[in-house]
Amino acid sequence: MLQQMSLAGRFTLPGSSLSVNRLGYGAMQLAGREGNKLVWGPPRDVDGAIALLQEAVASGVNHVDTADFYGPHVTNQIIRKALSPYRDGLVIVTKVSARRGEDGSWIPAFSREELTNAVHDNLRNLGLDVLDVVNLRSMLNVHQPAEGSIEAPLTALAELQQKGLIRHIGLSNVTRTQIAEARRIVPIVCVQNHYNLAHRADDTLIADLARDGIAYIPFFPLGGFTPLQSDTLSEVASRLNATPMQVALAWLLHRSPNVLVIPGTSSLTHLRENLKAAALHLSAEVLDDLNAMPKQNAGVPTARSEK
Ligand SMILES: NC(=O)c1ccc[n+]([C@@H]2O[C@H](COP(=O)([O-])OP(=O)(O)OC[C@H]3O[C@@H](n4cnc5c(N)ncnc54)[C@H](OP(=O)(O)O)[C@@H]3O)[C@@H](O)[C@H]2O)c1
Repeated sequence: MLQQMSLAGRFTLPGSSLSVNRLGYGAMQLAGREGNKLVWGPPRDVDGAIALLQEAVASGVNHVDTADFYGPHVTNQIIRKALSPYRDGLVIVTKVSARRGEDGSWIPAFSREELTNAVHDNLRNLGLDVLDVVNLRSMLNVHQPAEGSIEAPLTALAELQQKGLIRHIGLSNVTRTQIAEARRIVPIVCVQNHYNLAHRADDTLIADLARDGIAYIPFFPLGGFTPLQSDTLSEVASRLNATPMQVALAWLLHRSPNVLVIPGTSSLTHLRENLKAAALHLSAEVLDDLNAMPKQNAGVPTARSEK
């Protein structure tokens, strides 16, 4: 029997009864890879992926992030196989607005029909009647937030919410202007943008969302396909008898109480290592050292190999 960890305390999504541990799990890494097609097809070890999810939840993870375009469909089907019937209190957060091309590309799928299909794909593949949280992921620029109205797709998603298919709505890959626009249309419970020790464009946005009780959920918390690597991170980690990835996660958890982390891994060893980051205390001195690390646009940390 695995011991359930407290996993960095809890956070309740605003206006909801959904309360999650601040350290969760991102399921994107569970899909496979086929040549240059990332997050594509089944993993080499499906049973291993199932065992990993089951251990995550048995250890206290109650926030799993996913999308039906991971695989596509594969990751959600593995989640269903591993975790359904879902235990009470498990919150599955998914995202819509992209589909996959045969070449593995990520294609915007923002129309009312595409969003409706995406919500039904998620329901079917996860084996759910209603989705806890659906993030509308802006695809105006695939790689980074780009200005432009999201009113039309968000209105379509809000209608699916009114039909009872979605409990709560979040946003991903968005600008401050788009968040403000969205909040005039529908309550927003979380924002999921690219953010980590080296990529800190959202520093002030995190504080602003915290004031309104909205969760900020960094994607690529460990650097994504090119995991973080820096001398400072390694030096701090060895000082604390921890690993660089544990320090990177602990730093995020120390950033602000509204930050929830969803590190992704396909490795049970890495999962166990990452969960222990919840208990890692960073002193003010250590935080100063980490905060002084150069940001990505200053050219450091360096990237490790592509996955
Ligand atoms: N909204 C969006 O647009 C968006 C975009 C990307 C991701 N996401 C979500 O965010 C989640 C997290 O992002 P991510 O999985 O892409 O990136 P991530 O969590 O920053 O990093 C994952 C990478 O780090 C490696 N890793 C994990 N733990 C490690 C450890 N302890 N030691 C060494 N390496 C380790 C993984 O390899 P191993 O598998 O070998 O451990 C994988 O290559 C995703 O799973 C997904 O749910 C959302």
